[in-house]
Formats: sequence, C-alpha cells, structure tokens
Amino acid sequence: MGEASATVVFVLGGPGSGKGTQCAKIVDSFGYVHFSAGDLLRQFVRSGTKEGNECAEMMQQGKIVPSSVTVNLLKQAMKDSGSSKFLIDGFPRNLENRDTFLEVVGHDCSFVLFFDCPEDVLEKRLLNRAEGRADDNIETIKKRFKTYQDQTMPVIEHYRGMDKVKHIKTDVSIDEVFEKVSAIFK
Ligand code: C5P
Ligand code: MG
Repeated sequence: MGEASATVVFVLGGPGSGKGTQCAKIVDSFGYVHFSAGDLLRQFVRSGTKEGNECAEMMQQGKIVPSSVTVNLLKQAMKDSGSSKFLIDGFPRNLENRDTFLEVVGHDCSFVLFFDCPEDVLEKRLLNRAEGRADDNIETIKKRFKTYQDQTMPVIEHYRGMDKVKHIKTDVSIDEVFEKVSAIFK
C-alpha cells in the first residue's frame, strides 16, 4: 500500500445506523475496500487469547477497547489488502482512536460519512437484526448509545470543525440512503 497516497473515508453513526449495509453497497459501486472495526474486533475475540477475552468483556459493556488493539488490526488489514482506497466503519469511536490512527497509520481521513438516526429507530433495528451478536441486547444497547453520545459525538464535532463531515439522515430506506451516499462518491 502506498500509505502516503491512500484515501481513507471514516463511516460513523450510532449502532444500527446502516454503516455496514451502506459500506457493502459503496464497495460494489465505487471500488473501495471496506473494514469494519467492530468486525475485526469480533474476529480478534474469536482468537480466544487473553487479550481477546478482555476485549469481549469490554464490548459486552458497550465500552471502547484500547486503541492500540483496534488500530493495529486496521493497519494490518489495510496492508494485507494491497488497496489504497479504504472505507473504515465504526472508527474512530473516540478521540484516542483518532489520535492513535494518525500516529500509527500516518495520515487522516479525506472525509467522514456521518449516519444520523434517532435512537428509538436504532433500538428497534438492533433488537430485530438477529445476527446473534452478544451485544445486541437491550442492556448493552443502552450502554452503546451512551458511549456513542459521550465519546463518538466529540469525534464528529472534531471533524465538523475541519469541515470534513458529510451528514446523512438514515432514518429512511436503504435505497434512499444509498442515493444520498452515491451523490457524495460520484
Ligand atoms: O461497530 P460495531 O457496532 O460493530 O462495534 C461493536 C463494538 O465493538 C462496540 O460497541 C465497541 O465495544 C467495540 N468497538 C471498539 N472500538 C471501535 C469499534 C468497535 O471498541 N473503534
Ligand atoms: Mg457494523
């Protein structure tokens, strides 16, 4: 990967806001490689190591795992892909994630897709999605919402200050969201 010339787009939004769904569609239409920080972490947890088990515990509490873990997983995945156009979803979840990415990967994103959706809609989607995730239960969902408000919204504010946020309301159908998303990538 030519890291200096790589394009990185961060995709942020509450749990259930459509990040994974839209990223799959962006990959199909616009030739990006997509990594979900949450998926990489769930894969890491399945390794069954002590560090993996510690991450599982934090995820069950809706907490953000140490940035060194997440950023190293992302860096390795980016390197292995051989690509130079990346969509990274569910990251940076807090300002420490963001600082560590800059430090380890060496450059910032081009822009942030911000998927904005009311909590009551998110809650219904999460409780209905049946992906078998350990954190899609009402107790953990409430904690994830709080973590999102307390720690992820400041990241969005940070990038808003840099004029890098593309704000999209995702309380509508998948196709309607993708229409708005497409207009950004075209
Ligand atoms: O993005 P997703 O909902 O799949 O993330 C699931 C969980 O993984 C989060 O609630 C959090 O515990 C953990 N996570 C994290 N740091 C990230 C992304 C996800 O700690 N950057
Ligand atoms: Mg996801």
